[in-house]
Amino acid sequence: MDERIVSARLMMEDQTAEYSLRPRYLSEYIGQERVKENLKVYIEAAKMRREALDHVLLYGPPGLGKTTLSAIIANELGVNMRTTSGPAIERPGDLAAILSNLQEGDVLFIDEIHRLNRTVEEVLYPAMEDFALDIMIGKGPSARSIRLDLPKFTLVGATTRAGLLSAPLRDRFGVVSRLEYYEVDELAFIVSRSADILGVGLIGEAAREIAMRSRGTPRIANRLLKRVRDFAQVAGDGIITANLAREALERMQVDPMGLDQIDHKMLRAMIDHFRGGPVGLDTIAATIGEESQTIEDVYEPYLMQIGFLQRTPRGRVVTVSAYRHLGLPVPGDRPKDEPEEGPLLF
Ligand SMILES: Nc1ncnc2c1ncn2[C@@H]1O[C@H](COP(=O)(O)OP(=O)(O)OP(=O)(O)O)[C@@H](O)[C@H]1O
Ligand SMILES: [Mg+2]
Repeated sequence: MDERIVSARLMMEDQTAEYSLRPRYLSEYIGQERVKENLKVYIEAAKMRREALDHVLLYGPPGLGKTTLSAIIANELGVNMRTTSGPAIERPGDLAAILSNLQEGDVLFIDEIHRLNRTVEEVLYPAMEDFALDIMIGKGPSARSIRLDLPKFTLVGATTRAGLLSAPLRDRFGVVSRLEYYEVDELAFIVSRSADILGVGLIGEAAREIAMRSRGTPRIANRLLKRVRDFAQVAGDGIITANLAREALERMQVDPMGLDQIDHKMLRAMIDHFRGGPVGLDTIAATIGEESQTIEDVYEPYLMQIGFLQRTPRGRVVTVSAYRHLGLPVPGDRPKDEPEEGPLLF
């Protein structure tokens, strides 16, 4: 799989620390202000009315805090959370069993909800809408359906691929929130908070160095922090200074914008062999020896997000900012010593 240090996906090494670094309440959850403001109001209102919160759908790229936020919602409501995931629920009966074991007001968290299969999804519709479970009794012509009441619960669904959700499922969520990439300041704050929890000495400037290279993603920020901490323990006195952070991150070959070797390889291939594009996805894939799908899902999104790569109808194009970042002459730019105006002097 994808073992890049700047991958936003959950890796083995993240798992133990993620648990302790995870904020528990809205007040500890940094950034995503609009999403937080809305949720705060809905949660307050639900508590005042002593009702279950409306169903919530959280979507956005990996590592931005969907799972974290779901647990926070349950905590703030003061209810239990039951966790499962789309691929884990294989048959309608599995979901029926989970639903009928919920308590009034509980949160049911379904991760990767876009991966639910259709027959399971159909059990979810009446459950979400009417808090009811339709069960078929018997077989053949004598089969009939009976309806069981369910406790009023809140479904929190999370997905990285909102586009893959069926329309009827999407429409049954009262609250739909999209998580955005984080700003450097917010990530620096997250890194400082994590350093406190881990008991690591970290200078403010160093938090920014790490934040800048975290690709807008808290999971990556925390991972880089842990790697830099290891480096500080071995190479320094355990305190992470800006210089030490920079040196460690350079050794890990994560550049000041969070690009790694693979990003560089891809941009350089497009520039060296195709004059920066436009060049088709499959051609890029063949040139650098990667799957097109991997490029599209894993490498490209961040490069587009920071404006280093553009998608055009004729293929991918490397932008001027990318040339500048790589320290390469921008095609079509006048060399510096050439006069801008006036006649040429011979
Ligand atoms: N707003 C935040 N403030 C502080 N830390 C955060 C925040 N969001 C995420 N984190 C940190 O990032 C880690 C990853 O977040 P989380 O697991 O919730 O992401 P996710 O969106 O569920 O990812 P995936 O799509 O892979 O399931 C958390 O363990 C937590 O430490
Ligand atoms: Mg998650």
